[in-house]
This record gives sequence, structure tokens and C-alpha cells, in this order.
Amino acid sequence: MYNEIDLDKIEINAEPPEEEPARQHYFIAKCRKYVKEESERLGRPLYACTVTFGCQMNARDSEKLSGILEAVGYELTETEEADFVIYNTCTVRDNANQRVYGRLGHINSLKKKNPHMRAALCGCMMQEPSVIEKIRKSYRFVDLIFGTHNIFKFAELLANMFEAQGMVVDIWEDTDRIVEELPVERKYPFKSGINIMFGCNNFCSYCIVPYVRGRERSREMEDILKEIRALADDGVVEIMLLGQNVNSYGKNLKEPVSFARLIQEVEKIPGIRRIRFMTSHPKDLSDELIQVMKHSTKICRHLHLPLQSGSTRILKAMNRRYTKEQYLALADKIRKEIPDISITTDIIVGFPGETKEDVDETIDVIKKVGYDNAFTFIYSKRTGTPAAAMENQVEEDAVKEGFDRVLKVVQDTARERVSALWGRTMDALVEEINEQDPEFVTGRLSNNTIVHFKGDQSLIGTIVPVYLKECHGFYYIGEREDKWKN
Ligand code: SAH
Ligand code: SF4
Ligand code: F3S
Repeated sequence: MYNEIDLDKIEINAEPPEEEPARQHYFIAKCRKYVKEESERLGRPLYACTVTFGCQMNARDSEKLSGILEAVGYELTETEEADFVIYNTCTVRDNANQRVYGRLGHINSLKKKNPHMRAALCGCMMQEPSVIEKIRKSYRFVDLIFGTHNIFKFAELLANMFEAQGMVVDIWEDTDRIVEELPVERKYPFKSGINIMFGCNNFCSYCIVPYVRGRERSREMEDILKEIRALADDGVVEIMLLGQNVNSYGKNLKEPVSFARLIQEVEKIPGIRRIRFMTSHPKDLSDELIQVMKHSTKICRHLHLPLQSGSTRILKAMNRRYTKEQYLALADKIRKEIPDISITTDIIVGFPGETKEDVDETIDVIKKVGYDNAFTFIYSKRTGTPAAAMENQVEEDAVKEGFDRVLKVVQDTARERVSALWGRTMDALVEEINEQDPEFVTGRLSNNTIVHFKGDQSLIGTIVPVYLKECHGFYYIGEREDKWKN
């Protein structure tokens, strides 16, 4: 494991090793020297800040970036007034890109105040050549740029940055590599995401992810289990298995393994009390998985099952490879087998060619499935995707009208579903002190519902029974059951 490596024993004046992860360990040791020298020059510690945009997979990547930054000697901070700031970007919708450009302006002014400051960009947005062109032209103050495929060599790139004059850019078009055994700095001590696969092969016609994350690659089951065992030893009780399409996990391994099998192995690991996963593509969700979930005491009662659209015609144009009826039948089967499960979803409104009737179909599915929550997005045109070239783009007003209609039904349905838990006592994993009231803590039920109740720091990371006392739309105010009884 990484923490068994003695960085002081690495000979940094020798040539770097060719093999990974030894090569990155060498560069970690080398960067430690650069950071130490600069810190001594300034007579203070150096601070680094990682800012994450986008999905859970990006959040996990950011933990790896932070792990390296800490290993090379930076103190981690939440503020961008730091000596090194890295933006881990997302490009799934245009507003994600705009936010990054907006904040880069701020970095420029911070850099003027602190001449030692360095700024880096990585993540999905950097896999788009037009973005790199724009940054080279208009944001010349950025020191380091890399993409999603070579994130494992962050330590090496940092060393290059320290040694270079001017911007270091390294973007790979694709990769089949998975490098294990690098440091990670977790955001929460008691829960963690774990990548089980990278990339996506589905090519939904609106989606840029397959272009910026590359082809689907699964990690070896043993590597995943080893990582989870180490996390459990380190106090982690809840894990979330991450992939763009976890239901197709393991299909392309030399010795194929199913996702259901993987999750059964994870379940055997002592110390792990809750298992979540994200995301499930409806076309690949197996009966085997439904049965494993049904009989499991650790797999959470929550399934995120992106619908995208309820119209079979639009689903076909989206290349989702299921019909409205197939989706409904699947949701029905899941609810029958696991009655207390909560189902959440993603919906896109305004896909090219979408009519009022198509939106009606989506609303019909929302009502029939009864989602506990749904993320509703306005379609965003992504350059290079098939949908961007479709001629029948929907007018803004019609999109807005459809979006508002969908949102209303989503909210009504979710409120109704969540309120059905009223009066029950359920286990909550306490995640943090409540942001508004420090006398309260915030916990999460197995079905992903949030509950706030009186408590203190000592409860964080523990699972406690909570009486669901007041329903406030999408969340509860509760009371600890043991206290309630007294
Ligand atoms: N792999 C996951 C989703 C990853 S992206 C899955 O297939 O479910 C997360 C969500 O962003 C998608 O489910 C979709 O609803 C939304 N999304 C993706 N591309 C989009 C686009 N071009 N415009 C609007 N929403 C989009
Ligand atoms: Fe995008 Fe579809 Fe892959 Fe999800 S399954 S990441 S929506 S292409
Ligand atoms: Fe965004 Fe990349 Fe995730 S585009 S949604 S950060 S895979």
C-alpha cells in the first residue's frame, strides 16, 4: 500500500523509474524537495486548495489530487487565497464551463497579489481542444493543465510545473491504463467513494462524457476489495461504488465479473455497514442485482435510475436503448421486490425535437414511478455529440415551459414520497454539524433522505436511530430515538 512507502529512501537525483506507481512515488519525493525549498524561502508553510465541479467521480478524483498535494508537503485549505489552486472541471452542461471561466478571473487577481501562487486546471473540460485553445489565448496565467486520462501522473506534472517557465500542458486523447497505489486524502473520515470503473461506452446522443472520459474500463475486483478493506480499517462505514454505468461493471475484464457479484464480495467486508452505488443505466440493471439488493442488509434502500425522458421516441433519439414501457416495467419490478426502496432519477427537458406531448410522457412516468427525488436539467448542446448536430433544436420558451411543468410534478411527487416516512424511526448516518444550527446534526437515511436532529460532534460518523418527527418537504426534523424514549 502507498502508506508503507518510505519517500525519504527514494533517490531523487537518479533517473525516474519507468514503471507505475514507482514513477509517481519518485516525483512525489522530488516535489517534496521543491515545496520544502519554497516554504523555507518564504518562511511559512505553503497552502493548496482543490476546487471540484461536477459529479461524484470528479469529487473522488479531487481526493486523489488532494492526497498528492498533501504528500508533497502542502497544507490543504478551503480558500482560493493559497499558493496552489487547482480546478477539477466538469463540462457536462455549458453552465459548468461558464462557472470555471468566471472563477478564473478571480484567480488572476489573486495571482497578482501573490506572485508565488500557481494555478492548475484539470478534469473533463480540459479534454476539449477548443477549451485548451481558449485558455492558451485568454488565460495565460494558468501554470498547469492536464486532462482526465493522465490524472494519475499529477505528481510528475507538478514537478514539471516547478521546473518549467510558463504553462505546462499535457492532455491525452485516451488511455487504457489504471494506476493503483497512489495517496488519497478523503473529505469525510467515515464515508468514501470508490471508483470501480472509468469511462463510458454508451454514447447517449446528448452526452459528452464518453468523449472526455474515454472508453469503459473496469478495475480488477481484487484491487477494489483491497481498497475497501483498507478504508474499513481506517474507520469508513459507508462506501459508494462509482462508475458512469456500474451495471456493466466487469464485463470487459480478462475474467469477467458481474456487478452483483462484486457487491456481494463488498458486503462481506467487516466494518462496512452501508453500500451505495452510482449510476445505474436502466438497460443494464439485472434481476441478479435486484435479488442481491433485496436480501442485503448493507446495500442502501436507494436506487438512482436515470430516466432522461419518458417518451420512447425521444429515448430512441437519445440512444438510451430502452422504451417508456421497459423502464416502467423495470421500476415496477424493483418496487415489488424491494418495497421500501427510494428511486431517484435524472431528467432532461428540451432535447432536440421534443414536443409538448413528449414532455407529457415524461410527466406520466414521473407520476407512475413516484420518484423520491429527481434532478431536472435543461438540455445543453455539447459540441461533438450527435444531438448537437440535430436540426430540430427546441426554442428557449418552449423548453422553459416544459421544464417548469416537469419540475412542479417532480416536487409534488417527491414531497408526497418523503412525507410517507413520517412517524417512523429509522437509522441515520450522522454526516455533519447542521449548517444553520450548531446544536443540530445532519444525518442521512439508508434511502438517502436527510434528517436534522439535536446532537453534537461526537455523533459524526455513527449510525443512530432517529424518530422522524416533522416533515419539511424534502427533509425531516427528527429526534434521537433513545432520547425520545426518556
Ligand atoms: N452516467 C450517468 C449520468 C452522467 S451525467 C447516467 O447515464 O445516468 C449526469 C446527468 O447529466 C445525466 O443523467 C443527464 O441527465 C445530464 N446530462 C448529460 N448530458 C446533458 C446535456 N447535454 N444536457 C443536459 N443534461 C445532460
Ligand atoms: Fe453519458 Fe449516457 Fe454514458 Fe451516462 S450512460 S455518461 S448519460 S453517455
Ligand atoms: Fe462532469 Fe465529467 Fe462528471 S463532465 S458530470 S465531471 S464525468
